[in-house]
Order: sequence, then C-alpha cells, then structure tokens
Amino acid sequence: MCGIVGYVGPRQASDVLLGGLARLEYRGYDSAGVAIMAEDGVRVVRRLGKLVNLSGVIESEPVPGGVGIGHTRWATHGRPSEENAHPHADCTGRIAVVHNGIIENYVELREELAATGHVLRSETDTEVVAHLVESYYTGDLAAAVTRTVARLDGSYALGVVHADHPDTVVAARKDSPLIIGLGEGENIVASDIPAVLEYTRDVLVLHDDQVATVSAGEVVVRDGSGEVVADPELMRVDWDLDAAEKGGYEDFMLKEIFEQPTAIRETLRGRMGEDGEIQLSELDMTPEQVTAIDRVFIIACGTSYHAGMVAKTLIEQWARIPVEVEVSSEFRYRDPIVDDETLVVAITQSGETADTLAGVREARERGAKVIAITNVVGSRVTRESDGVIYTHAGPEIGVAATKTFTAQIAALYVLALKLAQAKGTLSDERVESLWLELSNIPDVVEAILADLDGLKECAAEYTAACSSLFLGRGIGVPIAMEGALKLKEISYIHAEAYAAGEMKHGPIALITEEVPVVVVATQGHTYEKVVSNIQEVRARGAHIIAVATHGDDEITRHAEHVLRVPATSEVLSAIPATVPMQLLSYYIAKARGCNVDQPRNLAKSVTVE
Ligand code: AGP
Repeated sequence: MCGIVGYVGPRQASDVLLGGLARLEYRGYDSAGVAIMAEDGVRVVRRLGKLVNLSGVIESEPVPGGVGIGHTRWATHGRPSEENAHPHADCTGRIAVVHNGIIENYVELREELAATGHVLRSETDTEVVAHLVESYYTGDLAAAVTRTVARLDGSYALGVVHADHPDTVVAARKDSPLIIGLGEGENIVASDIPAVLEYTRDVLVLHDDQVATVSAGEVVVRDGSGEVVADPELMRVDWDLDAAEKGGYEDFMLKEIFEQPTAIRETLRGRMGEDGEIQLSELDMTPEQVTAIDRVFIIACGTSYHAGMVAKTLIEQWARIPVEVEVSSEFRYRDPIVDDETLVVAITQSGETADTLAGVREARERGAKVIAITNVVGSRVTRESDGVIYTHAGPEIGVAATKTFTAQIAALYVLALKLAQAKGTLSDERVESLWLELSNIPDVVEAILADLDGLKECAAEYTAACSSLFLGRGIGVPIAMEGALKLKEISYIHAEAYAAGEMKHGPIALITEEVPVVVVATQGHTYEKVVSNIQEVRARGAHIIAVATHGDDEITRHAEHVLRVPATSEVLSAIPATVPMQLLSYYIAKARGCNVDQPRNLAKSVTVE
C-alpha cells in the first residue's frame, strides 16, 4: 500500500506533492520520490527512508515546475532502496510512473521488455509500466497508458507523466484507490482524500479500468476502450482532515478492520496458477525437498501465534505433516528438536519482534529451513530467513493487530494448500474447490462488515464487565484466544480463553452472572459439543455471546446474543469468526472511553526480549 499524489496547476508542484505525501505517509514510508516537469524535461528525485529525507533535498535544491507526480512507498517487490523508490522511468528518461498495487505478471513482462532491448534498473514490479508506456507511445499518452494497463494482471493505481506533455498527468486504476481533487484551475490526483483537502473538497472518484487525462483546466475520463465517460462519479467531502486520514472512520483500528477484505484479497492475489498449481515460489523448495519435510514448527508471538495455531489445523488436516506451534520466547530457550528435515515458519507482522528473530536464528543454526510470514518488506526477519511470504495488508497503524492477523491466516491457507499439493495429500478437485471457497472469503468478510446490527447493543451490555471467558473448539480455540487478546488489549477487561472442553476442569469456577462468555459456535463437527459447553456455563448463570452461522436457529435458545457470520466450511471459518470478535472488543473499548489505536503499555513492534 503506497501513497500517490499528482499535481497540475499554478502552484509549485513540489510543494503540493510533498504536502500531499505527508498526508498519505500512513500508507507507507520506506522511501519517497517525485517527478517534476521541469524546463529541461522530467526531473526525478528519490530518497530512501521517510519523506523528510526527500523534503530536505528538495528544500536545498528546489525543482521548479507546476506539474508532477509523487510517491511514498510501502515495498511489495524489491527491498526499500533509492533504486526501488518511485517514480520509475523508461529507457529515455522522458516518462515517469508512480504506482500503488501489485502487478502479478511483472516477471513475464520484464522478460518480454528485456528481450526487446529495454533496460530495467530496479527490482520492482512497477518499472515495467514505464517501459510498456514507452513501447506503446505514438504521441497520445492516455492511449499508451490504456494499452499498457490492458497488459497488466493485478492491481494498480498509476500516475504517469511524459516530457512531450508538460501540462498533463495521466492517471489510471484497477483495484487500488485513486481520486482526483477538482480545484479552481488546478487538479490533484491522489490515493486518498487527505492529500487533496487543503485545496478542494470536490472529488472525482476514478473507477476500475478508467484512465484520466488531468490538466489544470479539465479532467477527461475514458473507459478501457478509450470512450469518454460522460458521468464520472463526483462527490463532495465534508470530513475534517483527521477523519479523512482515517478514511472517515473514528480510529485506525476500525478502518483496518474494514480493510480486511482488501488485505485478504491482496494476499491471495496471484497464488493460483492457470495449471491449478498453488504459486509459492518463495518456498524455494523442490517437490522432493517438500516431501522430505517430516515436521513443521511454527514460532510467533501474540496475535501471530494465534495465526500459527490456526495453521496447525490447516497443515495437519490438508498436508498431513505434524505441526508444533510455540511462542518464540519459549522456543528460543528450550533446546528445541529441529533439524534439516524441519520446516520452521516464523510469523511476525512487523518482522522485527526480537523473540521471533532469535527463534529464527536458533532454528537456522540447527539446520532447519526457515520461512518468514511478514507484512513488512525489508524488515529484519526477511533478511534472516531462507524465504519470505508477504501478507499484503498494507501498513497497520493501530497497535492491536487486526487486518494483519486475517491476512496471515490467508497466507497460511496458501502455504497449507501448497504443502498438500507437494505431498499429494489432496486431490486436484479438492484443492480447486478449497481455493474457490477461499477466494470467496473476502466477500464473506464484506458481508459481515455490512451488517453490524446488534453488535453495538451487545457491546453496550458488557461495558462494565471486569472479567470474561472466551471458548471454542478445534479451529475455534485460537480464534477464541485472539478474541480474548483483542478484548484485554484495548478495553483492559480481563479475558481468558480456553478450549471449551477443558473449561470444566477449572475455569468454570470463575463463572458468575457478571462474567460474559464469548463462544465460537460456528457450524462444524464439534458444534453439538460446543452447545453442551454453553449449557454448562449457562447453568451457572453465565451470559452467552455466541459467534454463530446464519441460519442456525438452535443457537438462539442458548445465547443472549448471537453475532452472525455466513456459512463456510469448518476449516475456512477462522477468518469470518474473527471479525465479529474484533468489532465486539472495539465497541466495548470505545464505550469505556479507551484509546483503541494506542492501548496503554503496548507497542506495535516489540523489539526487546
Ligand atoms: C497484537 O494485537 C499485539 N499487539 C501483539 O500481540 C503482537 O501480535 C505481537 O507483539 C507480535 O507481533 P509481530 O506479529 O509483529 O511479531
């Protein structure tokens, strides 16, 4: 998730671009750059690190000009570096491009371009766009961009400039946000509204497959076939700047909960090949090496550990490989049994968690192959592991992990399917049907988020609780644990999670009318057992909040509140069941007046032991 700004108008473009990028820095911040239409052509300035590094250079060596594009990067392909920073230029240096999104077929496009003499200088997927525009350009920049985007698989929001068109920015999008702020004699292209609010509140929302030619006096939008769109979507923004940075949501945490469909979709993107093979080149193992794996060891902390627990079920069920999951802080000091036939998976959204990094070193010293799952390109875990699978959730600002957790689970579904394919433990038909259902999970999450009836009311009833219990069985156990972690982290209500069948061996002593019990009761082979456990605690006065499947009427007889999720197969219920619990914690915490984005005593990455 990167931030894009483009400007055409009477001001100094560099001022507008840097100001806008500062408003978008929440979208990514490993490097930044601008391309300005100067008198002598397109001038590109890029710097590694935060935007302030770029601003410093431009302050000391200004680049005058009223047209330009800018970018703040959240790396997806290629480590953070000046060479990989945007804008990217073509061979002639007359075209420059900024991009947000993922181009899935960039490897084949790179090969094609290189074979026809183009010289690509970065490790990014984006650079192919500049060279494709170069190859299609015959005098009409918008037409060249239209032909270019027709060649791209994946997601993109693009800003393109060309020295032959010094008064124009061309913008295009598919599955990545892009808007155009409509000013008086000036127009501003941006990934998000905060970047344009200083200049205008009138916004044109670019739709998928549309290409806009933006000049100071007008914006012409065309569809994929080059026809002018007569009625582009216009809106007037009435949020203040703070609300706009949070996309109109009250907090980053809520925004990030609502970003989950996109985060999951982006993480799954491009993972199924046309041949029915799961694409996971990051594993960098031959089928023989995978077959030789006799054990998987997952290490992680906190929320990431819960994702690891979900993965245990997936990998054992699908690939029939035994899986151990351990918190990194224990693993590193326990003299663990791992060797060169063990695959160690280190899960860490930040990529910087000290205990997990130490566990990675420990495992590699013992000869294990280590694959990291992280959300941050270039983070330490990526440098210390043998392979990296990225989640594409975009930066998560709220300290409590939400979208990174569900994106981790999405990545782990892919890994489990890949291992199953390599081991030959699932038929092609089964892989295909699981993949189809998995691809639908973002829509399932969207449906949950579109129907929050009852959630706020339910939360309001338990605002004064001092203690709570979360129960689940099977794949519902880590989901209950994550639900409890979310509640305690952001609301400061004590929350304990237990395997529902284990509850009667101790925690049942805690049950009173004042202790709400949240139960993961989605449909599955232990559903009846879960209902029995509910009855056990209910008989002791507990109030039940059940997360249950639409159409399950029986559950209403056993629970005070039912938070509904669409039906999925049991093994795919982990993500849907998580979402109502995130929201429950959120609304309880808000009702208690807590700062959900920065809970007390917590840090986003825990870089100390
Ligand atoms: C999650 O809400 C927490 N803030 C915390 O438990 C977190 O998951 C843990 O510190 C691990 O972080 P990582 O994924 O960055 O390694």
